[in-house]
Formats: sequence, C-alpha cells, structure tokens
Amino acid sequence: MAEETVTIVDNRTGNRADLPILQGTEGPSVVDISRFYKEFGLFTLDPGFQSTASCESAITFVDGDEGILLYRGYPVEQLAEKSTFLEVCYLLLEGELPTRSQYDRFCRTVMQETMIDEQMRNFYKGYRHDAHPMAIMVGMMGAFSAFFHDSLDIQNPKHRELSLFRLIGKLPTIAAASYKYSVGQPFIFPKSKLGYIENFLRMLLKVPSAKFKISPRLVRAMEQIFILHADHEQGASASTVRLAGSSMANPFAAISAGISSLWGPTHGGADEAVLQMLREIGSVDRIGAYIQRAKDPNDPFRLMGFGHRVYKKYDPRARMMKKIAQDVLSELGREDDPLFQLALKLEEIAHDDDYFCRKGLCPNIELYSGIAQSAIGIPSNMFTVVFAMARSVGWICQWMEMIGSKESIGRPRQLYVGASCRDYVPLHRRP
Ligand code: ACO
Repeated sequence: MAEETVTIVDNRTGNRADLPILQGTEGPSVVDISRFYKEFGLFTLDPGFQSTASCESAITFVDGDEGILLYRGYPVEQLAEKSTFLEVCYLLLEGELPTRSQYDRFCRTVMQETMIDEQMRNFYKGYRHDAHPMAIMVGMMGAFSAFFHDSLDIQNPKHRELSLFRLIGKLPTIAAASYKYSVGQPFIFPKSKLGYIENFLRMLLKVPSAKFKISPRLVRAMEQIFILHADHEQGASASTVRLAGSSMANPFAAISAGISSLWGPTHGGADEAVLQMLREIGSVDRIGAYIQRAKDPNDPFRLMGFGHRVYKKYDPRARMMKKIAQDVLSELGREDDPLFQLALKLEEIAHDDDYFCRKGLCPNIELYSGIAQSAIGIPSNMFTVVFAMARSVGWICQWMEMIGSKESIGRPRQLYVGASCRDYVPLHRRP
C-alpha cells in the first residue's frame, strides 16, 4: 500500500513536499515534520505542544475525547481494581504482566533496595526545618547520583536496571524521611518484608512510641491511588524527564528534573492546591462566588482539580479517585466529610455551568485525590510527593524507552522576536 502523505505547499515559492502520515496503534495519525526545515527552510511553531507529538512511545495511551487511559494496553480502571502497584510497575517496565515467579522476584528485588546510605540521612539536616517535602525530594533525588557511581553508565543495560530498582525501592524511604524531617520526628527504617505501600505508610505515619496499625482497606486505597498516578504518557513532567535525559544525563538527575516539573500547581501540585481551595471556599453557599472568579478573564484564579490538556469530557482517573475517596470515608465512618461534600457540590455546579461545559473543563484526578489521601492520614504537603513516587515508575519507563530509541538530544527551535544584530556601544558613548 502506498504511504499516506499530506502535501504542503509554500504559497510564496510554490515549493511543495509530501510529508508522511504515520499511523499509531491507537489515536490520531501523526504527520512526520522532521524534514520540514530541509524542505521549506521553515520551522513549525506549537507553544505548549498543543498539536505536536514529541516522541514515539509504546507505554501509555490517553484518549481525551473518550476518557480512556491504557497502560501497555490495559485500561487503568481494571488495573486499579485488580492489580497491585508493583505489578503495574512490572507491566509498565516490561510491557507484559508478570508470571507469578517474575512478580515475586520483582517485588523481592524492589524491597531489597529500600535502605538508603547512612550518609544520606545527614543531608536532611541541611534543610530548614520547615522545608516543603517536595523541595527535599528534588535535592535527595539529585543526590542519588553522588552515591551510586556503580550504576551511572546509561549505555549499560545492567546499570540501567540497577538504577531503576534503586529508584523504585528507595523513593518511599526518602519520601517518608522528607516528611519526618519537616515535622521533627525520627526517621522510621523500612521493613522489607512488608508490602511496598504498607511499608511506605508505616515509615510515614509511625512514631517510635506507639504501635503502628492501619486498616487493609486503607492500604488498598493507597495502592489504587499509586496505580492511578503511575504514568500518563507525555505530560509536562515525563517530557521534562525525557528532555533532561536526552543529553545522556544519568537517570537520577533526569528524574529529579521530573520531580521539579511535577511540583507546580497546574500539574501535580494541584492536589494540595485543591484542598487549600476547598478549605478557603468553606461552605456550599460560597461556591457560586468562586465559580464566578474562575470565569472572570481578569482574575488569575482557576478552579483547582478541573481542566486537563487532554481530557475534555472526563478523566477516567477522576471517577476512580472519587470512588476511592468514598470507600475510604465509608471505611472510617465519615461519609459526611465536609470537604468531600463540598467537592461533590462543586463538581455538580461546574458540570451544569455553560463556561465549564464550553471549555471542556471536567474534574481531573486531583479533585478527589487530596480528600482520599487526607482521610488515609497523609499530610497535605505530602500529596505531591506521593504523586512523584507513583509517577517515578512512569518516568523511568519513559527514560528507558528514550535511551533505547534512536532519539538524539532534544533541541526545540524558536520563533525569535528579540533585537536584530547590532553593534556593542561602549558605556561612555551611551546616552
Ligand atoms: N478554571 C477556570 N478556567 C480554566 C481552568 C480552570 N481550572 N482551566 C482552564 N481554564 C480556562 C482558561 O482560563 C482558558 O480560558 P480562555 O480560553 O478564555 O483563555 C481555557 O480554559 C483553556 O485553558 P488552558 O490553560 O489553555 O488549557 P490547558 O489545556 O493548557 O490547561 C490545565 C490545562 C493547566 C490543567 C488547566 O486546566 C488548569 O490550570 N487547571 C487547574 C489546575 C489543575 O487542576 N491541574 C491539574 C491537572 S491534572 C495533572 O496535572 C495531574
């Protein structure tokens, strides 16, 4: 079959070129514009990547119109219902679900990597006591490359594998320690015989003076939250990881860049911002005023937990997250939780509002994430850290895929609108 193409004609010169149309397994076809500059001497401009695929990927697929999210072809709802986080990690990394023995070996290897170097604990003392745990996470992740010289050769598959196990295994330990430091509590050491999620919750919530006990339903809810956050194809943070890693930087440096990108309130930081917003709104009768503010083009206020670049009808993760929040609250006998009730009402009002419908602003994963996590006992400044831990597996997969491909260094072009070339004027000659 003849290759499908799109013909571009430069009306100024009459130059024409047939650009190949590439067909993926799902989603819209893609025009290959890599020869565009050679053919026309022109760059293309697409700020914010509204219409540009930045890479070829076989990991995760999002259909924003239909509200579909697939990890290696599996719907995220099925994985959140039936799978475990470490099984999802295996799936994302290897492309297939593991056999029982592959799964057991994978879990064992991850849990053997949960300890951190004693010297790393000293690093925490360098931070102010009130540092945000995300600030500590960025630094600690970057510091990994100072400790693991034996796994920094990114061309060596054994090094890459060692790095990924270290990352997945140690992240809960540095994350929990970031929080413990910020509240002045002693660090709790990992327990590798526990499950991945229970071990994290124990390190985060236990204090040495009391026994730690948590309901298995809450652990399961947390596991589901991790699964829903595990990957989301080329979001800002994953793209940051790919771009940072494209210079052949080591994976810890690239993941540290991803954590920084995630932190912003229009990305992963939204979960913390949602809770702040709900507290500020305070009661149902004040929702109207905030909706008006969100619609006012002169007011920078945005309704946190609403809107997404890709999902324009609904975010499948938001539905799951709402159900998780409901389950957690019912387990705790707190179905009438005021913030949850407020979020439900906000969703209802926004759903019926013309502005939000017209702009395709539906609830995103973050609307109910903070409510669910907060009920489980996660402090609000740790929500984005939880997101970073869960998403790290996605980032590692994206990084590994990029390293294994023929992609060269990421180097976007620009439409330059600054001063044209001019001669330097010595200081004494300037007016
Ligand atoms: N509240 C009010 N208006 C909004 C919102 C919102 N939450 N989101 C977008 N809009 C409006 C914008 O003002 C803009 O209006 P205009 O066309 O009149 O200028 C229009 O909708 C399009 O907005 P963009 O920012 O161009 O849309 P984009 O797809 O780039 O942004 C984003 C997506 C950043 C998530 C945005 O919807 C937002 O800021 N939401 C609130 C923060 C949030 O919840 N982030 C979490 C996202 S999920 C995640 O990252 C895991």
